Amino acid sequence: MKHKLVFATNNAHKLEEVAAILGDSYHILSLHEIGCDADIPETSGTFAGNALQKAQYVKQHYGYDCFADDSGLEVDALDGAPGVYSARYSGGGSEANMDKLLHNLTGKSQRGAQFRTVIALLLGEETQLFEGIVRGSIIEVRRGEGGFGYDPIFVPEGYDLTFAELGSEVKNRISHRAKAVELLAQYLNKKG
Ligand code: IMP
Repeated sequence: MKHKLVFATNNAHKLEEVAAILGDSYHILSLHEIGCDADIPETSGTFAGNALQKAQYVKQHYGYDCFADDSGLEVDALDGAPGVYSARYSGGGSEANMDKLLHNLTGKSQRGAQFRTVIALLLGEETQLFEGIVRGSIIEVRRGEGGFGYDPIFVPEGYDLTFAELGSEVKNRISHRAKAVELLAQYLNKKG
């Protein structure tokens, strides 16, 4: 029987992407599939802390081996902000978040930034962390319609287009999330 592993998310897109990379060795379950509709706390000040908190919640309450992710944008000239607060930076949605970020970078020539994902895996007695980073820069005016979050203002290193212009095929190859998931997959496939 396949080893059951919960991905502590209800984001269907993330689930599909991870299940595809992991192949057949594991049966990946969503929170919904294990009957968990709780708003799992994410109160740590770091990506790793939040990812661990989510994975531990599932393991403690439901007993499954589990992994969870946490991601965000870290801007050099803002000392790593918005970081773990990326989703709720402005208190509004993505448009308001980008407005606030662009406002806070007004007049700054240093535009370097990175997206970071940390995945925490609890497998048996083991705890493992996997990290993916993509470096790039923040442009002054949004470009592109694709993606989500801060994609229209982020140009990854080595490209002239924003994540929102590059399209999901390219983004899913080079993104922070893709890199972290690839490390998770390498680890699990070695075990499985
Ligand atoms: P999550 O932990 O993957 O849900 O990401 C938290 C927040 O970080 C999102 O709500 C976005 O604001 C931002 N973020 C994370 N990954 C991306 C990305 O690939 N593109 C744009 N924004 C992102």
